[in-house]
Amino acid sequence: MPYVFGFRHRVEKRQREAEDWRRKHRRRPDGRRRSLTIRAACLTRLRQRKWSASGQLDRPPVPRIRAMPVRLDRLQPEDTPAVLRLLADNGLPRDGLLDHLHTGLVIRLDDQVVACAALELYPDGALLRSVAVQESLKGRGLGDQLVRAALDLARQRGTTSVYLLTTTAEGFFPRFGFRRIVRADVPSGVQTSVEFQSACPASAVVMAADLTNPRST
Ligand SMILES: CC(C)(COP(=O)(O)OP(=O)(O)OC[C@H]1O[C@@H](n2cnc3c(N)ncnc32)[C@H](O)[C@@H]1OP(=O)(O)O)[C@@H](O)C(=O)NCCC(=O)NCCS
Repeated sequence: MPYVFGFRHRVEKRQREAEDWRRKHRRRPDGRRRSLTIRAACLTRLRQRKWSASGQLDRPPVPRIRAMPVRLDRLQPEDTPAVLRLLADNGLPRDGLLDHLHTGLVIRLDDQVVACAALELYPDGALLRSVAVQESLKGRGLGDQLVRAALDLARQRGTTSVYLLTTTAEGFFPRFGFRRIVRADVPSGVQTSVEFQSACPASAVVMAADLTNPRST
């Protein structure tokens, strides 16, 4: 009997936590999503649950974070040095980025740039590049937010196909609808990018997302 009582207690506790999570995560009355801060915190809690439920106790849990005052923003010219530093820290090419700053995105934490991404727009498609997150903040949903925002930006600019090159994060992009393709399938306009011409090694994986496909983010 004490076991049953304890079990019920745990179930009720879980239900209360789930309701709490739903309340936090609910859209605002005006239909807009809640701030990045709350969403990042919720995502972290969910991951902790997922890991403990899967019994992977040897894997270090993501530290529980307090609400982070992060803000997704368009890249401003004065952000350039911080963005170039982020790219260098993550071993990503910087060549050609300065020509595409107007379609760059950053995430700021306490007004410091902690993550970035950029789009190169061409008549026959867009290239998603320079997706980088500060080392200490990886795994907290910032990369996810940036890629989704970049794809939204591509849609706003009327682009239906987005391409990217990566040597280290092939496994990160399928969740946004990216699939591996061969270089020859990249349209000629996009191939004029410095990333294709010289900045990325020939061994880099090429991926593409079709934004007209409802399954792509
Ligand atoms: C790839 C990168 C942008 C991801 O950003 P992030 O903020 O750490 O990622 P998020 O917190 O949004 O997402 C975490 C998820 O992505 C996965 N992930 C993160 N980096 C990954 C990588 N290099 N390869 C495969 N999966 C990766 C994590 O396993 C996690 O998966 P889960 O949600 O199933 O647990 C970041 O790790 C980074 O800056 N990498 C170096 C630069 C780079 O390779 N950029 C991509 C090419 S432009």
